[in-house]
Amino acid sequence: MSFCKTLCFKSVAITIFLIQGLFTFVHSQSQTNERAQWFVDARFGMFIHWGVYSGAEGIWKGEKLRNDNDYAEWIFYRNRIEKDEYLTLLDRFDWETIDPEQWVILAKKAGMKYVTLTAKHHDGFALWDSKVSDYDIADHTNPKRDIVKELATACQKHGLKLGLYYSHWVDWEHPFGWDHTKEIYPITAEQYDQYWQEKVIPQMRELLTNYGPIGIIWFDMWINHSESIVTKAQLLQLKNLIRELQPGCLVNSRLGLSIEEDPDIDFRTLGDNQLGSNKLDYPWQSPATVAHSWGYHTQDTKWQSTTSLLQALISNVSLNGNYMLNIGPKSNGAVPFEIEQRMLQMGAWLDINGESIYGCGGFDLNKDQHDWGKITYKSMENGHYMLYLHVFRWPFNRQLSLTGVTTKPINAYVLADKSKLGLDFQHNEVLTEITLPALQPDQYVSVIALEFDQKPQIVEGLLARTIDDGFSLNHENIFSEAGDKSLRRYEKGGTVPPHMIIEQKYLSTWKIFVDQPEELNFDVSYSFQGEKPKGTIVVKAAGKELDHHVSPTGLTVGEPNRNWHIDNFTSHGIGSIYFPKTGVYEISMEIEAKKDNAIKFQWLWVERK
Ligand code: GLC
Repeated sequence: MSFCKTLCFKSVAITIFLIQGLFTFVHSQSQTNERAQWFVDARFGMFIHWGVYSGAEGIWKGEKLRNDNDYAEWIFYRNRIEKDEYLTLLDRFDWETIDPEQWVILAKKAGMKYVTLTAKHHDGFALWDSKVSDYDIADHTNPKRDIVKELATACQKHGLKLGLYYSHWVDWEHPFGWDHTKEIYPITAEQYDQYWQEKVIPQMRELLTNYGPIGIIWFDMWINHSESIVTKAQLLQLKNLIRELQPGCLVNSRLGLSIEEDPDIDFRTLGDNQLGSNKLDYPWQSPATVAHSWGYHTQDTKWQSTTSLLQALISNVSLNGNYMLNIGPKSNGAVPFEIEQRMLQMGAWLDINGESIYGCGGFDLNKDQHDWGKITYKSMENGHYMLYLHVFRWPFNRQLSLTGVTTKPINAYVLADKSKLGLDFQHNEVLTEITLPALQPDQYVSVIALEFDQKPQIVEGLLARTIDDGFSLNHENIFSEAGDKSLRRYEKGGTVPPHMIIEQKYLSTWKIFVDQPEELNFDVSYSFQGEKPKGTIVVKAAGKELDHHVSPTGLTVGEPNRNWHIDNFTSHGIGSIYFPKTGVYEISMEIEAKKDNAIKFQWLWVERK
């Protein structure tokens, strides 16, 4: 539709949307194969980075890890350590106190349902009794230890699934394994295949044969095979071996094959410490650390709070994702206190609130619809449906609003309250408003459960009121638009807020639900660097029009004496509009700017008068 047509159409449209006919249905994580069902139900697992490097703690001969990424498990490669000398770190290990069962017990207490151990990390050292290579733990301990076996036994005893990390691509120990210096001193494809056939395949066969059922083989090639020395044929050989020996075992996308390229890959692994940003229909997982390094690093100090770790888990589940949180035990097997403490706190939270995580997935509303937190969803065996509202920000007025659900819940209660004592709530077409208790029931994240006796239906595209009790109409939640604009995210260290740059004519619309006849105030925030007033902003809703003439906003100063002058974004009251009845309204905004006199639009703020 041309700009003019859209504009003409929109300008007459003082549209009250009928909710009927806009229903859509929620759906669950549809592209999960049978093998992975336990994995998506589990949602929370433990990653264990432990190996020879744990004895270095990020320091080698008094020198801190030479770092690109400050990962302690990279010290062999980064500090250019000689292969045999590296193993002298094992002298520091306290074999009497090392007990993998303790890691499993911690995982269980933390509410995790699976563990993944670095059976062989990039250093090439096997944590099991490998007959294929003497660069393994059994050949360097007396009596011989087999950490994979000890862990497998503990997992079976405590009912957790066992995952094994295996570095297939990178191996710094084998002369023909990959290390990045081979970019300068190349090896041939034949030599790499020799490593593959004499180490990778037979070691994988050992792991898949001698340790009972393996839940996951977790590979770690973070680039696609096409950019690496590994061939697709080699990767398929490896995957087929897994399918043959352990048909139930999951394989992650860091095998070097994306799910798009090979739908037989069971789940996608995001980047290190990368949380989900979109809801996906196939299984996926974020590998994450409490601070930064994976292997124990004595100089790791930026420990995340328990609250932020729980929020990360919840956010991922709200997008159909898993969260695997790492421990980097020390050379005596002990888990750093900061990690252990947070995991126990997460476990205590899950003991009470786990119902909103396990077996749950994302709901179909826009992922950022509500600024108070995140929603997870599940269907119950009794035919009921649950929405779990995870309140990251407790509303100042104690009214928690859920916008967009047209089905009326049958009950609302604090999930932690086992008596399920109903909270007062009101349901008005698309708006559910729950009166919260005065005090937050949980010190980390409180959860409000909403129960439905039928599948909750939604209307899409509506804005929700923020907990600041107004609507923020901005580039992220536009319903429809016409005309050109360019988008800018945060700039200059976050001092310039996200905005749209408009240089001609631009029209956008948003939809809000007004729950009673009322007068709403409109403010517009923008930056205009022209010298004289130029351009207009026209807002229309409920048959009324507000006109604003754009005037220069000037600059502001970031820090003194640094010539750090930033475009000023300021808010301008442009008037109020009366909305005569309850319902969904469209708000349109037309900006008319001149070339070389751009209007940088930030938001339109709509709140009760
Ligand atoms: C990266 C690192 C590695 C770590 C892993 C965890 O691939 O190379 O050290 O094991 O991420 O996700």
